[in-house]
Amino acid sequence: MDAQLLERTARELVPERKGILAADESMGTIGKRFEALGIGSSEESRRDYREMLFTTPDIGEYLSGVILFDETIRQEASDGRLITQVLKDQGVIPGIKVDKSTVDMPLSPGEKYTQGLDGLADRLAEYVEMGARFTKWRAVITIGEGIPTRACIEANARALALYAAFCQEAGLVPIVEPEVLIDGTHSIEQCEIVTEWMLRTTFAALREHNVHLKGMLLKPNMVISGKEAQQQSGFEEVARYTVECLLRCVPAAVPGIVFLSGGQTDVQASANLNAMHTMYDDLPWELSFSYARALQEGPMKTWGGDAGNAEKAQKVFRHRAKMNSAARSGSYSEDMEQEQAA
Ligand code: 13P
Repeated sequence: MDAQLLERTARELVPERKGILAADESMGTIGKRFEALGIGSSEESRRDYREMLFTTPDIGEYLSGVILFDETIRQEASDGRLITQVLKDQGVIPGIKVDKSTVDMPLSPGEKYTQGLDGLADRLAEYVEMGARFTKWRAVITIGEGIPTRACIEANARALALYAAFCQEAGLVPIVEPEVLIDGTHSIEQCEIVTEWMLRTTFAALREHNVHLKGMLLKPNMVISGKEAQQQSGFEEVARYTVECLLRCVPAAVPGIVFLSGGQTDVQASANLNAMHTMYDDLPWELSFSYARALQEGPMKTWGGDAGNAEKAQKVFRHRAKMNSAARSGSYSEDMEQEQAA
């Protein structure tokens, strides 16, 4: 393992003012998001959409990296450049999602298991050839009646740790994503208990598998009430519960924590991240974002499958990236949302 290379890449992904765009939706997921907006999903439309995002002028001011899906990392932009080259030309590091999505956890109703370890080393070698420098693997934990179970927590944590070890051996920085879903009626306290359980189990597994903590990033959910909970948590509450939970569970050797947005609205995801920075300084790790929905909702809607809307959509995207860049240093305010019209 080249520890220095991994540490350098990990730090490059969490510089001041920058975060990560997750644009690694599987065909099924992006298909559903397109369908909801009446956009047809084809290899070409998915390429056009993502090319629109990646060619947004000056996007490298706000983004350090982009996570791609297997289809995209193999594609060329309309001007013939490889998509990875488009990103590099913007000063953005290409990354790749390497899990093979979730399956229903056998004999454990309502739970998911993330697959993709078989053949992983060979796939990683190919992605290194293609210019990827970091990876992502997402585990999904659901809160509900009698779940999560210990079996689900442990199986997913084990897979995350093995994934991270394979990546580091290949010279790729793993983003370890144990996501506790926002779906459900649970309270913020229940989310806190499950998030803490999953994080502690994940870091125990990472240690058992000799994962170099300085050469990885953590991508957790924020600690937040369920989407259908009667009592919805405000941003200062989310910030306090989240940071306190992370302080208890995440070793200081980890260089950065990059949140997923997980179904929060785009403004909520910015306001919550911002509150963490206004309420805490001197945290042991960089605290940034790796959003998919909270960065893409606006631009996808504006684009709507029509190349004629590309420039407008890019403005919406740049604005959203800028808001999160501000949130990452605690200098965001909702007044700044008005700038978008300009
Ligand atoms: P969301 O920000 O939409 O939760 O997506 C982040 C991600 O990459 C999930 O794997």
